[in-house]
Amino acid sequence: MLLKFLRSLARINLLIEPTIRHYVVYARAWYWIRLRRRLRTLDSDDTVKANIMHNMKSIWGVNNRMNLLTYPLSVIETLGPDARILVIGPRNENDLLSLAGLGFRKENIVGLDLISYSPHIHLGDMHAIPFPDASFDAVICGWTISYSTNPRRAADEMVRVTKPGGVLAIGVEYSTMEPRDEKVLLGYELQEFEKIGRRLNSARDFRELFAGSMDHVYFEHDAPRKISHTAEGLVDRVSNVGIVFSIKQGG
Ligand SMILES: C[S@@+](CC[C@H](N)C(=O)[O-])C[C@H]1O[C@@H](n2cnc3c(N)ncnc32)[C@H](O)[C@@H]1O
Repeated sequence: MLLKFLRSLARINLLIEPTIRHYVVYARAWYWIRLRRRLRTLDSDDTVKANIMHNMKSIWGVNNRMNLLTYPLSVIETLGPDARILVIGPRNENDLLSLAGLGFRKENIVGLDLISYSPHIHLGDMHAIPFPDASFDAVICGWTISYSTNPRRAADEMVRVTKPGGVLAIGVEYSTMEPRDEKVLLGYELQEFEKIGRRLNSARDFRELFAGSMDHVYFEHDAPRKISHTAEGLVDRVSNVGIVFSIKQGG
């Protein structure tokens, strides 16, 4: 009986526990950034100019918002533990370790970002993803496409590297902030609306962006409370948009 209990304890994946995972992310980041001096960045013509400066401020930071995408992904029956997964815009290893905590095999999870210190995060641009067509069973892009000044190209690249029938999960923060509000709040403008018109801000926007390739929608969370940060300050529980769908066969 005791042996059975100890065996089941040993099978628990501790990375699912946010506090433990956050310590692991922090310790590993400290090792790779401070000790090994591995932090690198890359510029992208299709990304807002403030991206690196803005995101470097939170390179040590972690949160649990990716649960909106990772949890649905973890229960889709076409994606087993061996699924090969690309994480676009992880910033640090938190997204990767969350997926490992949910049972996906660590060796099959790779990140892609314009900032990287980690051997598991390729330095690269989502507008020119450095992987061949149909490389991944799932592509997950959380809170990252909002930095794109060319979301059409980013979306086409995500579809290209996802296997037909594979799964794409994408999430953004719901926001009613204009660049001038960001200037008041942050001290600089983050969005470049003169290039994209307006931000992607709803499930409908993503249904339109991926219209040619979206097949079955497994999960959709359309910022039900519609609560945005404002120029006056950050709110406690900002709303988020998330959509998880399969890519058409031959799409
Ligand atoms: C706000 S963080 C998201 C971190 C994490 N996914 C989360 O939701 O907490 C956005 C990340 O996207 C990356 N990013 C922005 N533009 C990118 C691009 N063109 N290609 C790859 N990564 C990009 C940024 O460098 C940053 O690390």
